Amino acid sequence: MEIRSDFLVIGSGIAGLTFALKASSHGTVAIVTKRSIRESATYYAQGGIASVLSAEDSFESHINDTISAGDGLCKREVVEMVVRDGPTRIKELIDLGVRFSRRRNGSSVELDLTREGGHSQRRIVHADDLTGKAVEEALIEAIRARENIKVFENYIAIDLITHSKFVGRIDRDVVWGAYVLDKSTGLVHTFLARATILATGGAGKVYLYTSNPDISTGDGIAMAYRVGAEVANMEFIQFHPTCLFHPQAKRFLISEALRGEGAILRLKDGTPFMSRYHPKGDLAPRDIVARAIDFELKKSGDEYVYLDITHKPSDFIRSRFPNIYRKCLEYGYDITREPIPVVPAAHYTCGGVRTDMNGRTTIRRLYAIGETACTGLHGANRLASNSLLESLVFANRAVLDVVELVKTKEEIPAIPPWEPGGAVRSDEAVVISQNWDEIRRFMWNYVGIVRSNKRLERAGRRIELLKREINEYYWDFIVTSDLVELRNIATVAELIILCAGSRKESRGLHYNIDHPEKDDVNFKKDTVLKKE
Ligand code: FAD
Ligand code: SIN
Repeated sequence: MEIRSDFLVIGSGIAGLTFALKASSHGTVAIVTKRSIRESATYYAQGGIASVLSAEDSFESHINDTISAGDGLCKREVVEMVVRDGPTRIKELIDLGVRFSRRRNGSSVELDLTREGGHSQRRIVHADDLTGKAVEEALIEAIRARENIKVFENYIAIDLITHSKFVGRIDRDVVWGAYVLDKSTGLVHTFLARATILATGGAGKVYLYTSNPDISTGDGIAMAYRVGAEVANMEFIQFHPTCLFHPQAKRFLISEALRGEGAILRLKDGTPFMSRYHPKGDLAPRDIVARAIDFELKKSGDEYVYLDITHKPSDFIRSRFPNIYRKCLEYGYDITREPIPVVPAAHYTCGGVRTDMNGRTTIRRLYAIGETACTGLHGANRLASNSLLESLVFANRAVLDVVELVKTKEEIPAIPPWEPGGAVRSDEAVVISQNWDEIRRFMWNYVGIVRSNKRLERAGRRIELLKREINEYYWDFIVTSDLVELRNIATVAELIILCAGSRKESRGLHYNIDHPEKDDVNFKKDTVLKKE
């Protein structure tokens, strides 16, 4: 089947849905999403969205906090643009029906602003501890009401369609859409569009332990890299300091907002330790907190540290963090009475497909927005709750930019259907699960919170071997969704290893014990990769 639209949006998190909703005023939109429309990192976002919304706060302060967390690599013009645009984007969400938490202040009721690590002011709007769900549901409702948006659930994009590969040589390559697998029938369809928007989220699943949902396999980053788009700063993987430690819980996130409301990190014997690592103590930026926990765990041999909020009134804890309270109780912890066992886990991909201020990638008609993109906002470390904000701002800007593009006369050329070649059905699913597991394990052990030259070299050798095996397998067997994801996590793992190996210093989220100092002379710049 061939499906044509003005805009092809790959992904249905905050970035994809915001873009789709706004773009639908200018043309037809097809959204493909590899599970249900809800399934996204967005849906699980807890803490909230950072923006300057109180009289005590200022744009300068949010800009400075963002730049300070980014450790020398943020692009100031991008930070300024995003921060200043924030309040307008939050107002749009409120107009759309998102019910952010409010509090009484004297006779008036105002937005309840919380605090998180690295922020010098209370500036995080939230909907209890289920902010992402509130935003995603409001966007879905609005999307469903638009006739010219078609949503294709359980459709996974396999590869982008380029002019140079399927039409003929061209000076600056163009993307005309994507080949997409319908997971329920196994058929591969050709989705063609005047502009293709990658909104596929991050790549936490490259690591054994992650706060991310199963969809976060870096597909957009891998697809863009394969067609020659520039990818940058993949060494900067953010590890969230506090995920629930429990043998049965898939690393459930314990929001930084708990520390924002006074929770304290303690060793197993009850000793608080963060003030030894940073003047901001428990509210230090994430890279510092995650490394401090890692260091303490390696020193003590313990499996976890504690996050303790028991000194706060139990009514407050239950009403402010209803989701976290309920979830922990399911696993046997009453957080109003006992500390929570926590460990760090891979959480956010600061790098990604390199874009300009409007979400344009280095390939024509290809945009990247949300966690898939590397816009220059986060630099070497993202400030808490700046991700949902970035998605909103860039989705809006990409729409303003793309509207001009779709007016141009250039027609979508004829594109051949997907060619399966001589591929047959595989009867060895174990190859996929074995490789998947191996990559995630060595990425955790060798390319995790603390790296070394030797570990990175080891990881480099492993990924070379695995990539060759996966590639052979890929061309021999009929494509499945598991195989698509495996191929993508292998590509993303390779990009992380390459970037980490080339940054011979320690900065932000990248810490290498063989190069423990920051080296501004040689490395105060992005790490950029491009497939030749
Ligand atoms: P996502 O929301 O991840 O959506 C990606 C979409 O792409 C999904 O629909 C997925 O199915 C689809 N997709 C992926 N690959 C394909 C493919 N090949 N074909 C078709 N579809 C595909 N950030 C904050 O700012 N504040 C917070 O409070 C916060 N809390 C968080 C809590 C958790 C537990 C996690 C995991 C993240 C949190 N973050 C937070 C980060 C933030 O949620 C994400 O960075 C953000 O939601 C990313 O949005 P997105 O639209 O780019 O991607
Ligand atoms: C959290 O609630 O701690 C996550 C916030 C974020 O990732 O920005």
